[in-house]
Amino acid sequence: MKEITVLGSINLDTTYSIPRIPLPGETIHVTNVSSAAGGKGANQAVAAQRSGLQVNFIGSVGDDQGGKFMLDTMKKEGINLENVKINSAIETGAAAILLDEKGQNSILVDAGANGTVKPEQVRNAEEAIARSEYIVAQFETPIEATKEAFRIAKKHGVKTILNPAPAKKIDEELLSLTDIITPNETESYTITGIKIDAETGMSETAQYFRDKGVDVTLITLGEKGVFYSTPVHEGMIKANKVKAVDTTGAGDTFIGAMSSVLESDYSNLEDAIIYGQRASSITVQGKGAMPSIPTKAEVEKVYGKD
Ligand code: RIB
Ligand code: NA
Repeated sequence: MKEITVLGSINLDTTYSIPRIPLPGETIHVTNVSSAAGGKGANQAVAAQRSGLQVNFIGSVGDDQGGKFMLDTMKKEGINLENVKINSAIETGAAAILLDEKGQNSILVDAGANGTVKPEQVRNAEEAIARSEYIVAQFETPIEATKEAFRIAKKHGVKTILNPAPAKKIDEELLSLTDIITPNETESYTITGIKIDAETGMSETAQYFRDKGVDVTLITLGEKGVFYSTPVHEGMIKANKVKAVDTTGAGDTFIGAMSSVLESDYSNLEDAIIYGQRASSITVQGKGAMPSIPTKAEVEKVYGKD
């Protein structure tokens, strides 16, 4: 079975449904509060595992109820948790999600245990990384750990996927270790300083990343679709039109599902993007991040097998 490794965050999400996102100084009543499993790393891992991969996870939770719930949830999915550390000195990561009536969200993240993942912990996971087709990381765990994971991956010829979310400036070393980068428009702008709109900025952005050693740039543009650029071709794949209830975890689903299909020579990149978009279109139609991520069978039930 094809394996990947995800290095990333595990969060307990609390979602506050509100008519609209409050302005500074404004107080608004919530219409509903619910909690669910989340965290960009965990969501991406679950998306890949539900699409038929074996996922190895590197991360950390606190020794608390939230951590137990998250590990239980991920274990039931079949994710290999051998390299997840339980840290009794700090609480499990948490996110407060404001969800408006259009399904748009604003998120506050408290890193907690996610912030304690060290390069040493990553080195202990070398075997799992070496067995993997890809290693996938985001910005909710420390960058030094990500760099170490990507260095180990390179040593074993394993491709690296960086989802630079939440937005943060990146140093050149990390980019030089990255094979595939998957920012949205704002994340891309934070890193490159190049503005992206419907027609301009995308090829320039891909060139920026390519000059720094990144092979493939995938810019996720929400309802507009996904722009892709490889050393040999580039293009745009439109999004599926669906009614969004809650977009939390949509980007994570795209990345996890896409990497479950993508060949490491990128030969089927377009098909992989289309599959990722299909999976993520299902995620936005359900509430909560992890609970709404589809299995491969669910994606195929809606969209067929090819
Ligand atoms: O990408 C969505 C995720 O971001 C949520 O599940 C939340 O935990 C935050 O990490
Ligand atoms: Na959702």
